[in-house]
Amino acid sequence: MDSEDIVSSDSVPAPSLGNAVSPSPLPNDEDMIIRAVKLNKYFGDKHVLKDIDFEVRKGEVVALIGPSGSGKSTLIRCLNALEKATSGEISIQGQKLNPYLSVKHLSSIRRELGMVFQNFNLFPHMTVLQNVIEAPLLVRKMPKDQAVALGEKLLTKVGLSEKRDIYPSRLSGGQKQRVAIARALAMQPRALLFDEPTSALDPELVGEVLKVMKDLAYEGRAVLSNRAIPKSYLESLNISALRHF
Ligand SMILES: Nc1ncnc2c1ncn2[C@@H]1O[C@H](COP(=O)(O)OP(=O)(O)O)[C@@H](O)[C@H]1O
Ligand SMILES: [Mg+2]
Repeated sequence: MDSEDIVSSDSVPAPSLGNAVSPSPLPNDEDMIIRAVKLNKYFGDKHVLKDIDFEVRKGEVVALIGPSGSGKSTLIRCLNALEKATSGEISIQGQKLNPYLSVKHLSSIRRELGMVFQNFNLFPHMTVLQNVIEAPLLVRKMPKDQAVALGEKLLTKVGLSEKRDIYPSRLSGGQKQRVAIARALAMQPRALLFDEPTSALDPELVGEVLKVMKDLAYEGRAVLSNRAIPKSYLESLNISALRHF
């Protein structure tokens, strides 16, 4: 994967063209949530990320596209410090991720980024509401009544307030993914990172998840989402035209 595969920007509300490819030298821009500069990642001698430069600002939805195996998940894992880039620089809200940060400092930076996965990763033995409030209760040590109020608010936001007391197995894929989004939001992150959020969904359920993602940008979060696209399709794609959407 290289920077050409990062197709900014279904920008919401104001389209911004092409900034995913050539970041301007403005490290203190307060709307800049995620910034990667000359990011490289090798697994052994396999060069997976090649000089990736991009930014995600508040209110933007940036799409990462590429065929399976092109490094989309690796990039997201590097941003979230689950994987260490071989070289280059990552800043989250102007704070550089580097190997010398204390665990406490690193986790405070990571808390700015919510993660949503392809397969939802909900806890099957917990109700919808319990899934959403687990992290605020355990990590934030939020009092139970406050966590429940927050959970209810987030479930309303994703259109699932009526499902609060049921178990994930009774939900459709799109509903599960919206619970996963509410759960990520419960930690009040500045940005949401989605790793193929709609790939496991039936086509008719994709729209409801994309709508929630757009709403997140409208409320001022940064959204980075990836999606696998067949290689043959990519080869015929005019990336510079796509940037104008
Ligand atoms: N932990 C790892 N160790 C070795 N190779 C890896 C590891 N993670 C990913 N890879 C390789 O890096 C490449 C990119 O993988 P990945 O980021 O999962 O791609 P994508 O998400 O675009 O399908 C693949 O060739 C994959 O096999
Ligand atoms: Mg992947």
